[in-house]
Amino acid sequence: MQHLSLKGAYGVSDILIGSGLIQRTAEECIHKFSPSRVHIVTDTHVAPLYLETIRQQFNIPVSVSTIPAGEEHKRLSTVETLYHDFLSAGLTRKDLVIAVGGGVTGDITGFAAATFLRGVSLCQIPTTLLAQVDSSVGGKTGVDLAEGKNLVGAFYQPRLVLIDPQALSTLPAGIFQDGMAEVIKYGCIQNPEILHLVSRPDFKADIDRIIYECVKIKRDIVEVDEHDTGLRMILNFGHTIGHAAEKLGNYTALTHGQAVAIGMVAAMRLSNALGAPEDLVPLLSSLLQQHGLPTELPYGKQDIFNALLSDKKKFADTMNFILVRELGKADIVPLPVSQLQEYIMTI
Ligand SMILES: NC(=O)c1ccc[n+]([C@@H]2O[C@H](COP(=O)([O-])OP(=O)(O)OC[C@H]3O[C@@H](n4cnc5c(N)ncnc54)[C@H](O)[C@@H]3O)[C@@H](O)[C@H]2O)c1
Repeated sequence: MQHLSLKGAYGVSDILIGSGLIQRTAEECIHKFSPSRVHIVTDTHVAPLYLETIRQQFNIPVSVSTIPAGEEHKRLSTVETLYHDFLSAGLTRKDLVIAVGGGVTGDITGFAAATFLRGVSLCQIPTTLLAQVDSSVGGKTGVDLAEGKNLVGAFYQPRLVLIDPQALSTLPAGIFQDGMAEVIKYGCIQNPEILHLVSRPDFKADIDRIIYECVKIKRDIVEVDEHDTGLRMILNFGHTIGHAAEKLGNYTALTHGQAVAIGMVAAMRLSNALGAPEDLVPLLSSLLQQHGLPTELPYGKQDIFNALLSDKKKFADTMNFILVRELGKADIVPLPVSQLQEYIMTI
């Protein structure tokens, strides 16, 4: 088992990574929090797979909320349901909330835990690759509004994150591939060794190590910039153009991972146009394709430009792009909006 600690503004979080950790949930939670009761939040897909394994380990009262699976339920009404469930279970500020599931369950539960009684302790047990390498670490929580994704939320660190790579064995292939887009992102922005590891046909044999290397990068970045005002932006490599593509497809034509994959290749092309010494596009494209991810924009560049422009903050005359001009090194580059169209034509 690997251990990482994350020092945030309000304390230290422990992140444990190891196969079989789910079987030790109660032991780790009781050791860390000594709660009188716990409340588990999971979703309708994950509950039949892992809920009983976790629930039966506790010899203190356990209550459960099973929320409907899917991004469309990442909204305030689900959070309100959780508040009512917490109250009827008799949860107090000395107790513990455990989120078991993907990024959607983690984000909703994190926000409910951050705001219920002004904050109850939180443990995250991420069960998708994306949640294990990204969303369970770093304390961003929240929900969507009709106007857009993640518009309401809070920074609230889970004091414990239990990452069990064995949980990935039940994940549908497409959802695993989505997470691989984020894994490859970490390799591009910070540690090319990750790219080497995932290029092997038997990379799943090293999945514990791959997850550890990704989480370590996220931990290091969050410790420098917990509230996302500077360095943390490099985690958005591929996301600016990716979001524009997701939007053009009404959030249904492309999954988030597919959009990020396409966005990373586009950002790499932009890096070249702005003077990267080496053309990294073929290397990135072939790695993404090896993992079943798309690399070409399914929309016209003019449409991407229009979508980017509609996202632009009204008063900003620059737009930040994350560029990788050297493998393992990302820069935040503000590009003048007046020249945006010209730049987008290079992707
Ligand atoms: N908080 C952050 O820092 C952060 C970072 C990145 C993404 N996010 C958010 O994460 C969300 C996406 O997360 P996601 O990709 O994990 O999606 P998700 O939570 O919707 O999970 C994808 C699907 O997999 C199912 N599932 C989960 N674990 C499973 C398992 N082990 N076996 C079988 N099925 C399983 C879920 O029920 C769901 O149907 C988005 O809402 C995004 O905004 C948050």
